[in-house]
Amino acid sequence: MCGIVAYIGKNTAYPIVVNGLKRLEYRGYDSAGIVLNSGSSFTLSKTKGKVSDLEEKAENVDKVSTIAMGHTRWATHGVPSDTNSHPHLSNDESIAIVHNGIIENYEPIKKMLTSKGFQFHSETDTEVLVNLIQYFRDTEKISLTEAVRYALNEAIGAYAIAVMEAENSNKIIVGRLSSPLAIGIGKDEFYVASDASPFVEFTKEALYLEDGEMATLELGKAIDIRKIVDNTKVIPAIQELQLTLEQIEKGGYDHFMLKEIYEQPKSIMDTMRGRILVNEGIIQMAGIWDNLEKFTNASRIIIVSCGTSWHAGLIGEYLIEDLARIPVEVEYASEFRYRNPIITDKDVVIAISQSGETADTLAALKMAKEKGAFIYGICNVVDSSIARLTDAGSYTHAGPEIGVASTKAFTAQVSILSMIALKLAKHTGKISNQQFHLLASELELIPEKVEKTLKLDEQIKEISKKFVNATNFLYLGRGYNFPVALEGALKLKEISYIHAEGYPAAEMKHGPIALIDENMPVVIIATKKGHYEKVVSNIQEIKSRKGIVIAVVTEGDEQVKGMADYLIEVPETSECFTPLVTSIPLQLLSYHIAVMRGANVDQPRNLAKSVTVE
Ligand code: M6R
Repeated sequence: MCGIVAYIGKNTAYPIVVNGLKRLEYRGYDSAGIVLNSGSSFTLSKTKGKVSDLEEKAENVDKVSTIAMGHTRWATHGVPSDTNSHPHLSNDESIAIVHNGIIENYEPIKKMLTSKGFQFHSETDTEVLVNLIQYFRDTEKISLTEAVRYALNEAIGAYAIAVMEAENSNKIIVGRLSSPLAIGIGKDEFYVASDASPFVEFTKEALYLEDGEMATLELGKAIDIRKIVDNTKVIPAIQELQLTLEQIEKGGYDHFMLKEIYEQPKSIMDTMRGRILVNEGIIQMAGIWDNLEKFTNASRIIIVSCGTSWHAGLIGEYLIEDLARIPVEVEYASEFRYRNPIITDKDVVIAISQSGETADTLAALKMAKEKGAFIYGICNVVDSSIARLTDAGSYTHAGPEIGVASTKAFTAQVSILSMIALKLAKHTGKISNQQFHLLASELELIPEKVEKTLKLDEQIKEISKKFVNATNFLYLGRGYNFPVALEGALKLKEISYIHAEGYPAAEMKHGPIALIDENMPVVIIATKKGHYEKVVSNIQEIKSRKGIVIAVVTEGDEQVKGMADYLIEVPETSECFTPLVTSIPLQLLSYHIAVMRGANVDQPRNLAKSVTVE
């Protein structure tokens, strides 16, 4: 993970880099640092903690330089500490580096460098890389650019790096392999960042470095991109940024998470916009349409993903099998990639990823591609690594998701999967025209129903007050709402640090029921369609053991009302689309409980938004 930012140009670099780091804090916030270049030496400031801690620490450093690089860290090698924070300098303090990724073979390189007299002050792999660059520059008598290239050819692992030399305030060198790196091109200035958000207000011209490429950004010259392996020149693919400043600001909300929960009527609508043509009987998705035979003739569809995206994948399995009758398997990407799975060219592998950068999902996909499967991506971040690797795909148009806890990306993913299922079902004739019309019309109504569900916010806030000091939670659901229970539990634990478990409601009696007593809150989804009577029986089982029931039910429900301690009534919809509605109160519940516990909901401890390490 980690976020890197660099600037070289005519403006004062400090505020650009520091503000850029704040926008990238979703990538990790264990430590932060900045290095400024005066033209002959570096000014370095770094600290354990957040970018705000860095600002305090750097209060008195000289900030006039027009070239600087910064870093916000999610610790991998070495504990979060001042020493392990980036940027790192080479032994002779002539080269500085910021790095996102992991150099897997840093141990043997470190050994080699130690034998040549190099010393190391941190526990990081990055300090090894910067010294390897110094080593090549000095022993081979080559330029910094060449030394970076030599070093990167030795490095195994993942990296997005920016490097500069103390004596040269005209140049920054960047390179990437498996970690994202965006370059903004202004007039006589360059911006570098892990994504485009740090420079969105300065330039709309950007390019994304491809794996195995490096670039020299030199003032007064055009960008020079080379292949790391053999130095061949690459033509820059400059594009216009679609991102806007407004999209990445809080817009009056206390937290990004709350803003993103509230954006869902719009983000679901944006995801479906132009894709559902009810009267024409069409779901318009070019990625599916162009490859329809691949999907309909697939021996099976395998969905690979992690975390919340994996929960969306589970709902996708229910949807596609239920409506289109094509077999689907859902796998944790991290397990799939290492368990030697059987994959053939008859398989379709769908990767779901908000960031499009999750290391395990990316690796699983690469493996599936090598084995001949057709690979499809469902990503939120345009031009992300997964989006670029896949044969085809559908973007969720949820807009930037900054809160570490995924909310609007989840419902956008489920919306895409709903449309894919409908499209495949219609095309294979597994549903009639009439059923299609009914379901597609219902799907179109979801943004409205989500809007209505959001009106329950105050009521959910009141309920949340009762559970601020809870130590455990159970989340139960059946059918389509089983993955919603898993997702509800994940949301609660990741932002409030309350232990929570999601279970299929009927599995409760095979173990978790032993946990139920008068102190155990149980969130149970008991909407009218979908095993309603059976879930009602599960509620009775909980009540007879004195558990506290928070039930999410369909508006107007009378039966559960008499049993539950707290009732949350959501609008009715088709059973297969209920997750799009029932997930909303669970997001709000976890949000309010976390806020009341004083937790940092946007940046929960130990987490990062984009998990680019395995
Ligand atoms: O970017 P991705 O969708 O691939 O990320 C996958 C998970 O890391 C992510 O969903 C994570 O579980 C979130 N923190 C959940 O809120």
